[in-house]
Amino acid sequence: MAENLAPGPDHKPNQKSVSAYGQWADGGWGMILTGNVQVSDVHLGGPGDVAIPSHASQTPSPETKEAWKTWAATCQRSGTPTIVQLCHPGRQSPAGISNRSFFAKTIAPSPVPLNFGPSILERLAASLLFGTPHEMTVEEISGEGGVVDQFVEAARQSFEAGFKGIELHGAHGYLLAQFLSPLTNHRTDSFGGTPAKRAEVVLRTIRAIRAATSPTFCIGIKLNSVDAATSESLSDVMAQIRLVAGCGIDFIEISGGSYENPLMMSADRDKEHGAARELFPGVRAGCAQGFPRLVLMVTGGFRTRIGMEQALESGGCDLIGIGRPATVKPKLPKEIILNTRDVPDERASVALTPYQAPWVVKHFPLKMVGLGASTMHYGAQIKRMGDGLEPVDR
Ligand SMILES: Cc1cc2nc3c(=O)[nH]c(=O)nc-3n(C[C@H](O)[C@H](O)[C@H](O)COP(=O)(O)O)c2cc1C
Repeated sequence: MAENLAPGPDHKPNQKSVSAYGQWADGGWGMILTGNVQVSDVHLGGPGDVAIPSHASQTPSPETKEAWKTWAATCQRSGTPTIVQLCHPGRQSPAGISNRSFFAKTIAPSPVPLNFGPSILERLAASLLFGTPHEMTVEEISGEGGVVDQFVEAARQSFEAGFKGIELHGAHGYLLAQFLSPLTNHRTDSFGGTPAKRAEVVLRTIRAIRAATSPTFCIGIKLNSVDAATSESLSDVMAQIRLVAGCGIDFIEISGGSYENPLMMSADRDKEHGAARELFPGVRAGCAQGFPRLVLMVTGGFRTRIGMEQALESGGCDLIGIGRPATVKPKLPKEIILNTRDVPDERASVALTPYQAPWVVKHFPLKMVGLGASTMHYGAQIKRMGDGLEPVDR
């Protein structure tokens, strides 16, 4: 989860990152996956994102490299392998928070603006906060210093710092997802036009990261299956998964949603038992049949030991991702889920108090505001961890 603990101008991990991740490091998790690290500080998702400097004059200083090493060592001090989530928000980078001018455009495969809805307020929010993106040139995609290079540089920095791998964020409407989806990629060159060409930027990035790191460096990817609403687009998604799997990816995390339709955070995913069975069943079944050896991760809604065991035993997934519960119980596995000696199955759960947004937020005619408020509630727990305090669940 995005920690929002590394403000500008340098956006490097700091004492607060160490304090928060230190709590997770000692929690008995099978793996830690960091919040999204932006591959360019010119295009941030949030003002406190960890980010890689984009300009050559800002190449990571020895202090920055040291800060990354300390971060990696802290996460892994109790032996938990840690993977860095790498992201570029593309058209979902709000104005005014990144190291670019307020009026500079976002970038995307095609100049398709965000669409929050038809009302004046929704249209105003989309145009003022995000605007219409600049259509990336081929040079900006795959040329020297382009986006592929930026992902590779971020992966190299993660590798050299001592992290065990990276996960490419190709979901939630961010830049790689914008390339993969026909809704946001209208290109007719080598990066658009067919499912395979829309996946080209991802495939080049995976191959280049493998070449720049090592065969044992873990490379995963988070993909959306939400466009798979019709059987036609499901076959597109499966074709793209086949290409990604063929590139030697180590795991795939299936998710869904974007800023326009934030399914990844919707309340009805807080269901118990079998979240993995209910989520994105078309893609999950397709993966299980077509790529039985592919390691599949599902995140969202897991709250009980029994539910997690059922999802694993039924073949629903191989890895279980846990988000919000980790912000209120940083030692959830050690204290509850894996503590079979002291905590029987019927008590092995974490119940999050449903977040009650203030009236004005609940009735605000913009879905993103409600999403932001709920995310901020859990983000506030991460901030407490960064300040060396215990999180609280109210
Ligand atoms: C504060 C906060 C920050 C998040 N940041 C990210 C992120 O950086 N990358 C990502 O892939 N998902 C992010 N998410 C989504 C979570 O990873 C997860 O998919 C979502 O919370 C659903 O899982 P859960 O029901 O276990 O919480 C974030 C969620 C929260 C609450």
